[in-house]
Amino acid sequence: MNNIVWHNHKVSKQERTALKQHKPAVLWFTGLSGSGKSTVAGCLEELLHQNGVHTYLLDGDNIRHGLCGDLGFSDKDRVENIRRIGEVTKLFVDAGVMVLTAFISPFRADRQMVRQLQGEGEFIEVFVDAPLEVCEERDPKGLYKKARKGDIPNFTGIDSEYEAPEEPEITVKTAEHGVEACAEQLFDYLKSNGYLP
Ligand code: PPS
Repeated sequence: MNNIVWHNHKVSKQERTALKQHKPAVLWFTGLSGSGKSTVAGCLEELLHQNGVHTYLLDGDNIRHGLCGDLGFSDKDRVENIRRIGEVTKLFVDAGVMVLTAFISPFRADRQMVRQLQGEGEFIEVFVDAPLEVCEERDPKGLYKKARKGDIPNFTGIDSEYEAPEEPEITVKTAEHGVEACAEQLFDYLKSNGYLP
């Protein structure tokens, strides 16, 4: 970039992290609408918070009210949505926070791009795996019903593709296990992989 020079601050990421008990990272939840991303992420955040971990949860619906309020659901806009979120998560991890994100993030290339933005071991891809039929049956916001009627174009799983992760760090199966069990599975993953003391 012309005439723009990166400035190194006096307090480094390592120094900020040293104040914390945990190793900061981003838990990147990906899955269909209605798969349970936000619900499981919310439950895990509560669990982490109770254990003294400094967390922040970025959620699709909320972020689309502000930071990404100008974006829709075309492929191009989804790419830009994830790009912005990726940059934001990088800042949070740099600040020493354990970040949880809940976005459909349907495209593998975009999730890979976010992974590459983070340092080694700082991107934990969480596949929230629930069959389309189950998500459609749950339909918590009535969006599948509208999409089937043709009222919502480019709806993920209906007429817009979802590319499931091929090698996620961890998969939670929300059609088979309850929300708390999934959150505990993730908490145990963080413990046994050195993210938590
Ligand atoms: S993406 O694909 O990652 O950019 O999407 P995201 O930012 O996570 O936003 C998904 C939520 O937006 C609502 N919504 C739609 N989802 C999918 N396709 C279309 N066309 C669409 N239009 C609106 C929907 O409530 C999603 O929320 P979740 O929590 O995933 O159900």
